[in-house]
This record gives sequence, structure tokens and C-alpha cells, in this order.
Amino acid sequence: MKNKRLLAVLAVLVVLVGGSLIYSSLNKGGGAKSTTDKKTVKVGVLQYVSHPSLDLIYKGIKDGLAEEGYKADDIKIDFMNAEGDQSKVATMSKQLVSNDNDVLIGIATPSAQGLAAATKDKPIVMGAITDPVGANLVKNLEKPGGNITGVSDRNPAKQQLELIKKLTPNVKTIGALYSSSEDNSKTQVEEFKKLAEEAGYKVEEYSVPSTNEIASTMNVMTGKVDAIWIPIDNTIASAFATVVSSNKDAKKPIYPSATAMVEEGGLASVVVDQHDLGVATGKMAAKILKGAKPEETPVEIFNKGKSVINKKNAKELGITVPEDALKEAGQVIE
Ligand code: TRP
Repeated sequence: MKNKRLLAVLAVLVVLVGGSLIYSSLNKGGGAKSTTDKKTVKVGVLQYVSHPSLDLIYKGIKDGLAEEGYKADDIKIDFMNAEGDQSKVATMSKQLVSNDNDVLIGIATPSAQGLAAATKDKPIVMGAITDPVGANLVKNLEKPGGNITGVSDRNPAKQQLELIKKLTPNVKTIGALYSSSEDNSKTQVEEFKKLAEEAGYKVEEYSVPSTNEIASTMNVMTGKVDAIWIPIDNTIASAFATVVSSNKDAKKPIYPSATAMVEEGGLASVVVDQHDLGVATGKMAAKILKGAKPEETPVEIFNKGKSVINKKNAKELGITVPEDALKEAGQVIE
């Protein structure tokens, strides 16, 4: 009887002491975990090709993430550049998905399309995609529906046409130079053509399959058109130096659709700010990281342009830029 009671007391003691030991060790483990094993956020970025505008967008993305509390030192950015190669787009997209990134960002249409083909459930943020619906990336800009949302850069075509009229009133035929392999360009050319024809211009299309055909195409088109217009097109942007050098003798006014191309030897344009596009993309990625769902996050649209005029190029072409155009310009290159 006595022994039994002693055993019972002992058993209670064992349970109490053992239990409290286990409890405190569990607690310590939990505490240690939250400080040493803190999960680093991983952001996968696929840039389609190197050209100054996309480089600026990537910089903006990092700035936008930092503004939302994801500083470069605190997160891991898994960055890849496909250098304009479609097969690299496909393999890098798969790689970025299997690298277990928390969010994926595609800079330019072909890379966003590559990522979209590689995953149907990882969140994807589109970095500056001109026509997300036409490129089959989202169903609806307001309610994307799938695993993709992001930022869209629309070309301010109407304002560009007004600038063409103001700077070069004698132009009648405009040649549109663009890449036949980019979905983003097709839509822009259609829209530009429609608006230009309404404004009384004749538009001739010159599409190139790759950068290799730019020089020969330029040689033909400079003999047939009064001015050259270029949409927001990665292929042309990545080889813009060739466009400029092929125009040396013909001296046609070139109206491209990004500041970098105007700086490199275009005449003028009305453009969307590239760094702003990147910042908005980075902020949207941050929003997704904090729990927002792409399917319910509307695509953010940038369509307000500011004019940029290359005064140096105007001088070379013998064009006098009207004072009011210079006054209104967002940027003048001297
Ligand atoms: N909007 C382009 C696309 O959808 C990418 C892009 C952004 C771009 N900025 C640019 C291309 C400037 C040429 C020049 O692919």
C-alpha cells in the first residue's frame, strides 16, 4: 500500500519535471528558429535582352522593391538575361521556376511569355509589357484571373503623330520599322497605322525577322519614305546603332518610342518613363510578396508620355525645332 502511493507520487513528479523540461526546450527551439532560420525572400527576374531601356527598368525594379522594404541586402535576386535568344528564354524560365523563387518578374514580352509557359501557379509580375492581352498573358487587365499581373507600357501614338506634324510638317509617307517576332510590336503598328491614316499620312510597314536584316531593310526604306517611326520594340532597340548608321546618308527623321533611342540618334518622340515603369513593377512584386493575389490585382497601365527632342540630331538633319515644342518638351538633348 505504502509502496503503491510512493510510486504514484514518483510518477506524478516524473510527468511534471519531464513535461516542463520538454516544454522549455521546445520553446527555446522556437525562439532560435525565428532569428537564425529567417526565410530570405527570393525574387526571380528574366530580362529578355540588353538594351538601355530594359536595363533602366531592371534598375527601377530594384528601387521599387527597396522602397517597399525589400532592400537588395535583405532579399535574393535571381537575375537572368536571355540576350534575345528564344531558346534561352525557355530554359531560363524553367530554371527560375525550379529555383524556388517566391515571385517571378519578366522584363519585356518574350520573357513574360516564357515564364508564363513555365508555370501556371507561381506568381508572375510583368515588367513593362505593352499588350498583355494581345500577348496572351492575361485575360482581362482589370481582373487578370491567372497567376500573372504587372505593369503595361502603352505607346502614346496620338501624341507622337502630333509631334511628327509639328517638327516635320512636310512628311507624307512614314515607314514603320519593327520586328515581326514581337507580339508587342504588331499591336502598336496596327494602332499607329490607323491613327496616322486618319491624320492623312501614308504608312508603309517594314518588318524584320531579327537584327540581322535591319541594315538591308533600312537601305530599302530610306529611299521610299519621308520619316521613320519605330514602336516599343526590343529587337530594334537592341540594335539601334545599326538603324542610325544606315541612315547616315539618307538623313531621314527617325521617331523611335523610347528616350534611349532618341539619345542614340533619333530625332524626337513622346515616351513613357522607363525608370518609373520599373519602380511600379518592383512595387507590384512587393505587394505580391506581402500576400496579394495576381488574379485579383489589376494590371497598372502607363500611357502618359512626355516629349523628348534631340536638338543635336535636328541640327544635323537641317530641321528647326519650333520654340513652343522645345518649351513643352520633357527633355531636350543638346
Ligand atoms: N514593352 C516592351 C515589351 O512588351 C518592352 C520594353 C519596355 C521596351 N521598354 C522598352 C522595348 C523600350 C523597347 C524599348 O516587350
